[in-house]
Amino acid sequence: MAHMPRQIEEDRRRIDEVLRRIEDARKASPERFLPIVGPVKGQVLYEAAVKVKPRRALELGTLVGYSALILAKADGDCAILTVEENPELAEEAKRNFEDAGVSDRIEVLVGDAKKAVKDLSGPFDLVFLDIWKEDYVEVLDDCVALLRSGGVLVADNVLQERPALHEFRRRVLSHPELETEVVEVRDGMSLSTKL
Ligand SMILES: C[S@@+](CC[C@H](N)C(=O)[O-])C[C@H]1O[C@@H](n2cnc3c(N)ncnc32)[C@H](O)[C@@H]1O
Repeated sequence: MAHMPRQIEEDRRRIDEVLRRIEDARKASPERFLPIVGPVKGQVLYEAAVKVKPRRALELGTLVGYSALILAKADGDCAILTVEENPELAEEAKRNFEDAGVSDRIEVLVGDAKKAVKDLSGPFDLVFLDIWKEDYVEVLDDCVALLRSGGVLVADNVLQERPALHEFRRRVLSHPELETEVVEVRDGMSLSTKL
């Protein structure tokens, strides 16, 4: 941090401010369902992105942009495409990206991620999967196809005891193109490297 160029430090400070604002808003209004990845699992996502140094990242499930901001903070040169089906949330995320000064490198695609993964062209260096859990299995193979070899698929909430996630764990751990580690942090994250 001490040797970080001033501009990079300033960019990260702006992102941090918006991240804190979203965390504070969640605490202040618990009645609003705001299932962000949060700071603890966010750190796992951040470290994965720092390691991969993605030039192109894909996120499925934007909500208000919290996790996309973590990806933007991890690598200042990463172009991020994030997919959200709810247009109002997508607009809120765009405002957060503007406030954080990163709207030039985060594109929000409004639509169904299940369709988007079939239409998009890869390769991506990192994919973060965080849509409704019932749809994880359906998009898994398309996510793998969009990743470059050596790229990483991060999936949130994988240790929740729900049939859909049980099946996702089974598939991601036995996938012939992936080497997967499940991190026991909160309700779990899987980190899968494409072989
Ligand atoms: C758990 S939240 C995402 C949280 C966000 N990744 C974060 O940590 O800040 C899930 C989001 O995915 C969106 N979503 C769910 N299913 C979707 C789908 N099939 N296509 C696009 N967005 C979807 C929901 O509207 C919701 O905003």
